[in-house]
Amino acid sequence: MLELMLNGKKISIKEGATILDAANAAGVNIPTMCHLKGHSSFTSCMVCVVKEHVSGRLIPSCTAPVANGMIIDTDSTEVHHARKSALDLLLSEHVGDCEAPCRLTCPAHMNIPLMIRQIASGKMTEAIETIKEHISIPAVLGRICPAPCEKGCRRSRFDSSVAICLLKRFVADIDLYSKSPHIPVCGISTGRNVAIVGAGPAGLSAAYYLARCGHQCTIFDDRQEPGGQLRYGVPENILPRQVLDKEVEVLKKLGILFEMKMKVGKDISICELREKFDALVLAPGKKDQYSLLSWLVKTTEKGIVIDAHTHMTSESGVFAGGAVVHEGRLAVRAVGHGRNMAVSIDHFLKKIPVTGVLRRFESRIGKIHEPEIIEFMKESDCSQSIEPSGGATAGFCVDEAVRESKRCMHCDCRKQDDCKLRDLAEKYSASPKHFNVEGRKPFTRVTTHTSVVFESGKCIKCGLCVRITEKAHETYGLTFVGRGFDTFVGIPFNESLGAGLQTTAEECVKQCPTGALAFKNC
Ligand code: SF4
Ligand code: SF4
Ligand code: SF4
Ligand code: FES
Repeated sequence: MLELMLNGKKISIKEGATILDAANAAGVNIPTMCHLKGHSSFTSCMVCVVKEHVSGRLIPSCTAPVANGMIIDTDSTEVHHARKSALDLLLSEHVGDCEAPCRLTCPAHMNIPLMIRQIASGKMTEAIETIKEHISIPAVLGRICPAPCEKGCRRSRFDSSVAICLLKRFVADIDLYSKSPHIPVCGISTGRNVAIVGAGPAGLSAAYYLARCGHQCTIFDDRQEPGGQLRYGVPENILPRQVLDKEVEVLKKLGILFEMKMKVGKDISICELREKFDALVLAPGKKDQYSLLSWLVKTTEKGIVIDAHTHMTSESGVFAGGAVVHEGRLAVRAVGHGRNMAVSIDHFLKKIPVTGVLRRFESRIGKIHEPEIIEFMKESDCSQSIEPSGGATAGFCVDEAVRESKRCMHCDCRKQDDCKLRDLAEKYSASPKHFNVEGRKPFTRVTTHTSVVFESGKCIKCGLCVRITEKAHETYGLTFVGRGFDTFVGIPFNESLGAGLQTTAEECVKQCPTGALAFKNC
C-alpha cells in the first residue's frame, strides 16, 4: 500500500492507483472531462489538475500515479485557477449557443425550442409542462403577447420567424379545454403564508409558483374579479374573459385564495399584511409615487425600488414586481417577474441566501454567417410560415401546429442541462473571451443519423467517443481527422454518422461531456 496526504488527510491506496482513484476512494470530487473508467487515458482536457507539493507541480490526476509520500491539494486557489485556464482555453474555440436566441429574448425565459420539439413529436402533455415551468397563464399570453421572442427568432434570417406565440397558445388551449387541465405537482405545505397585493399578471404568476413550492398564498385586489389590466384593459374580442377565468380556475385549484374588493391602504393596511403573513408581494400595477407613500418601501417617480436580481424592496421580506417597478407594461415581463419573485421568496422563507433566479453560463456563437444558416436549416422544414386556416384569432389546428413547429431550426444546445463544460465553466467562472482567438470556426451540424446530431464546434476533442466506438468494434466508428490544431472528430471514409454510430450512439451521447453529440429529440 502507498500513503499520501490528500487535502490534509492521510490516505492509503494500493500501488498502481492514480491520484483520481485515491480522491474517489476518499470521497473527494475532482472534475473530469476526457476520463472514463474502463477506457484508456487521453489527458487532453486538464480540468482534473491537482497540486503536488513535494514536486511543486500541477499534474493531471486522471493519469498521474500515486507515489509514496505525495502531498496533494485538490481545491486550492492555485488549482482553481489552473482549471479555469484549462476551461478558458476549451471555450476560446467553442462554437455553440447554450440557449436559443428566442429564449434569450423571451422576458419569461421560456424553453421555446424544447416546447417546439415536443409539439413536433406530438408530446402535448410534455409541451404544456415545459410552458408552465415559466409561464403560468399561457392561454392568456398566447392571445395578447407581442412576442418579443419572435423578433429574436433566427429563422427570420432564412424567411420568417417561427410563430412561437401561436404555438404556445395552441398547446395551452388544448390543455385548458381538456377534461383535466394541467395541475403542477406542488411541494408539501410549508406552513408559511404569503400575501400578494394585486391580481394582475405579476401577482397571479407569483402565486402560481409560490403555491408550487408549498406556500399558502392570498391575493388582495380592489377590483371585482382577478386579472388586473388583462381583464379591465384588454378588449374581449382579443382576450375572451372565459380564457382568463379558466386560467384563474387552475390557480384556485392550487389552493390560492382571492380576497377581491379589498383595497390595500383602506380595507387593510400594509402593516397588517406584514403582521399576518410571512412575506409580502407588491404587484398592484402602475402606481404614482404619491399613492405608494403609505406602502413603507423606498420609491422613486418610476415606482418601487427593488434589487434587480431578487426583486426585494428596501424592506426585508417585501418583494415587488410588474408595472410598479418597470416602466414597460408587457404582460409577459410581469409574468416573468412573478416567477422571479416566487424564487426569491422561497429562498427567503427557507432562510437561505436570497439570490433570485440565477442566470447560467452562456456560450454564444455571435454573428451567424450566411452559409451557417444552411447548417441550422438541416433539420428544418423549408416551407413558408403556416397561417392558421381560421385566421390568427382562431389559432392553429393540430396539423398546422405540427407543420409550423417543424420550421424551427433548433438553435439551442440539446445538452444545455447536461453539459459538463457548461457546469464547470459556471463553477470556475471561465470565459470564452479570456484567450483572444482571432475569428472562429464555422458552425456545422451533421444530421445523418436517425436520432443523433453532431455539432463539431462544441467538440472538445476529449476522444471519449473515439475510444467508445473503437472498444465496441463499430464498423466505422468515430476517429480523429487531421493534425495539430486543425484536428477534428469525424467519421472515417466520409461515411454518414449513422454508419459511424451503429451500436454505440446512446453510449457516445451519454458520455460526450458537451453538446457535440446529442439526441435530436430531447
Ligand atoms: S456544449 Fe455545453 S457549453 Fe457548449 S453550447 Fe452546449 S451547453 Fe453550452
Ligand atoms: S428557429 Fe426555433 S430555436 Fe431558433 S430562434 Fe426560432 S424558435 Fe428559437
Ligand atoms: S464528440 Fe467525442 S471527442 Fe468531441 S467532445 Fe464529444 S465525446 Fe469528446
Ligand atoms: S486530463 Fe484528466 S480528465 Fe481530462
